Amino acid sequence: MSVGWGFVGTGRIAGEVAESLALAKGGHLASVASRDQERAEQFAGKHGAASAYGGADGVERMLADPGVDAVYIATTHPQHYAPARAALLAGKPALVEKPMTVSLAATQDLFDLGAARSVFVMEAYWTRFLPGTVALLEQIGAIGEVRSVHADLGFPAPADDRRFHDPAIGGGSLLDLGPYPVGLAVTLLGPAVSVQAVGSLTASGVDRQVAMALEFANGAVAALSTTMVAQAVAKAWIEGSEGRIEIDRELHSVPGFTVTSKDGQTHHDHAVEHGYTYMLEHVHECLASGLTESPLLGRKYSTDVAEIFEKVLTQVGVERNRESIPD
Ligand SMILES: NC(=O)c1ccc[n+]([C@@H]2O[C@H](COP(=O)([O-])OP(=O)(O)OC[C@H]3O[C@@H](n4cnc5c(N)ncnc54)[C@H](OP(=O)(O)O)[C@@H]3O)[C@@H](O)[C@H]2O)c1
Repeated sequence: MSVGWGFVGTGRIAGEVAESLALAKGGHLASVASRDQERAEQFAGKHGAASAYGGADGVERMLADPGVDAVYIATTHPQHYAPARAALLAGKPALVEKPMTVSLAATQDLFDLGAARSVFVMEAYWTRFLPGTVALLEQIGAIGEVRSVHADLGFPAPADDRRFHDPAIGGGSLLDLGPYPVGLAVTLLGPAVSVQAVGSLTASGVDRQVAMALEFANGAVAALSTTMVAQAVAKAWIEGSEGRIEIDRELHSVPGFTVTSKDGQTHHDHAVEHGYTYMLEHVHECLASGLTESPLLGRKYSTDVAEIFEKVLTQVGVERNRESIPD
C-alpha cells in the first residue's frame, strides 16, 4: 500500500519534502491544505496532488478526504499544534515539523493523544535518519563514553524575514536552529538534568542568539549555541573517554565526520541528495508495521528536546505564542 500524504502548509520545507516524497518508496502526495485556496491549488499542481483545500477550514476538509492516510505538518512552529491535534483526533497519523510544538505541554499532549487513540505521531527531525547520523551512531563506541558535545549553528537572518523576527510565528534562533545542536546532544546523551542559558533579544522580543550549557545524568556536558546574527561554523565535536568525533561541516545534515581514536583517524563521507526520503521511508515502514511511535525517534526524544527549549526560552526571556500552548 502507498501512504497518501496530506500536507499542511505550502512554504519552503513543504516543497522540499514533496520533492523527496516523489522519490521515496511507500508513499505519495495525495492532498494539500493552505490558508489560501489558490496557494493550495498551485502547490497541488506543481507536486501532483489530487486535491487542494484552502481557507480557514482547509485542514478540516483535507482530513475528511479518504485519499489522505497521513498528515505532514509544515507550518510555522506555533502553528504545528492545532493541525497535528486535529489530525490525531481524526485518526490520521501525523509527522510534525521540528520543533514539534513551542511547549513541553503541547508536545506531551500530542503523544498522549496518539497513544490514547493508537495513532502514529512523530517529530520530523530528518537528521536522525540520514546515512551520516546512522554511521556516526555506529561509530560512537570507538570513542569510549561520551563526555561532552559542542555544537554551533546559525547565520545572519535577513532583517525583513518575518519567520525569524515575529514572535507570533515562533521567531528567534533557538526554535529554528536549535533542533540540530540540541537534537544531537539529546540523541547521544538523553534528557538534560541541568540547563543554563544566556542570550540576547531582538527589538521584537525573540532571541537573536543563545548560548546553552547542559549537564546530563552521567556527568556529561554540552556547550551549544544558535545565532541569527553571525555566521556560525555549523560544526560539532563529540568528545569521549577514548577519542573524539568531529562533524566537520553542515551539522544539520551530517554529510561527513572524522573519528579520532586509539586506532587512528578515519574520515566518513555520507553526503546525500533529497535527504527527507530516509525519514519518509522510515514513517512508511512504521505505518506498515502498525506502530504508534517510531522506535528511533519517539516521545522520549521529542519531550527531552521540548523540555530543554522551554527552559532556555524562559531563562532568556522569550515570550511564546500562548495560543499554541494547552492550559
Ligand atoms: N526539516 C527541515 O530541514 C526544516 C527546514 C526548514 C524548516 N523546517 C520547519 O518547517 C516549518 C516551516 O518552515 P518553512 O521554512 O517552510 O517556513 P515558510 O516557508 O515560512 O512556510 C511556512 C508555511 O506555514 C503556513 N502558515 C500557517 N500559518 C501561518 C502563519 N500564521 N504565518 C505564516 N505562515 C503560516 C504557510 O502556508 P500557507 O500560506 O499555505 O497556509 C507557510 O507557507 C518550521 O517549523 C521550520 O522549523 C524544517
